[in-house]
Amino acid sequence: MLEQLLEQADQIMASAGAKIAQVNTNSALEEVRVEVLGKKGALTQLLRGMGSLSADDRPIVGKRVNQVRDAVERLLAEKSRNLQQQALEEQLAAERIDVTLPGTGVARGTMHPITLVLDDIKRIFTGMGYEVVEGPEIETDYYNFEALNVPKHHPARDMQDTFYILDDLLLRTQTSPVQARTMEKRQPPVRIISPGKVYRVDSDPTHSPMFHQVEGLLVDEHITLGDLKGTLQAFVREMYGKERGVRFRPSYFPFTEPSAEMDISCFVCGGEGCRFCKYEGWIEILGCGMVHPRVLEMVNYDAEKYTGFAFGMGIERIALLRYGIDDIRLLFDSDVRLLTQF
Ligand code: PHE
Repeated sequence: MLEQLLEQADQIMASAGAKIAQVNTNSALEEVRVEVLGKKGALTQLLRGMGSLSADDRPIVGKRVNQVRDAVERLLAEKSRNLQQQALEEQLAAERIDVTLPGTGVARGTMHPITLVLDDIKRIFTGMGYEVVEGPEIETDYYNFEALNVPKHHPARDMQDTFYILDDLLLRTQTSPVQARTMEKRQPPVRIISPGKVYRVDSDPTHSPMFHQVEGLLVDEHITLGDLKGTLQAFVREMYGKERGVRFRPSYFPFTEPSAEMDISCFVCGGEGCRFCKYEGWIEILGCGMVHPRVLEMVNYDAEKYTGFAFGMGIERIALLRYGIDDIRLLFDSDVRLLTQF
């Protein structure tokens, strides 16, 4: 009986050792523990069998069972550590990062050509003491036309094909209404530029139904045409370089008198004539003039005391010329291949 029990203990030890060696998961390892050391486990069963042994033999079997339990517990603990280590290594291998691989690169935005040109214009005029003022894009007939000396049925309304929203409400066709809005609120001296979107019923390679203008207005005592020319000349030098020629041609705008258009010598050919300037040597960049006395009176300025000048320029035109883009619609297609070039 003694021999038999001791042999059983050795068998339990051997089979537990073999199973522990084979097991690959924590749950399978736990099953082995229950099988051997659990309440209904093989070793516990064996202890129950000791009842039939003599008092001398019992300690011998008890001692062997304890040895087997200790040994099995050691193997279990060791295996558990190994499994843990293995899991950690697998995780590390799976999460391995090769820091020498090339990065994916973060795509960075670029400034739109319109923004670049606008920023330049703002920088130059704020440098001369002008303030940037904005106005609404949805405008009343009054500010877009009437206050600028363009009464209803005035033929000048045909110069600008207007998007009407209601009889009296429209998408502004120019930034000039900001002149009237600003003068209504302030007393001279007034020195502002007003950049923004304007709208006209017009669409072809050089016209977009929405485009940008910058308006300029200066009103004070003793302002003359000479101030207008000097200011715009200074602007052109800053914007296009000292060598750039400037010329003024008489023109007509209802809200200025006299009125002019300003050309600059072509910045591609320098005045020789090329396809950019249509072989004229000159490029028209803005309209301007002395603020019409009627416009001043409309905002209750004393037109005897105050005079002023105003100018307005299209931004797309300047951007197209500066960057050699030949279709205005490219500016609004949002194609990154174009936009990333600036
Ligand atoms: N508003 C005019 C236009 O859109 C430009 C302009 C502005 C002319 C101010 C004179 C003075 O054509």
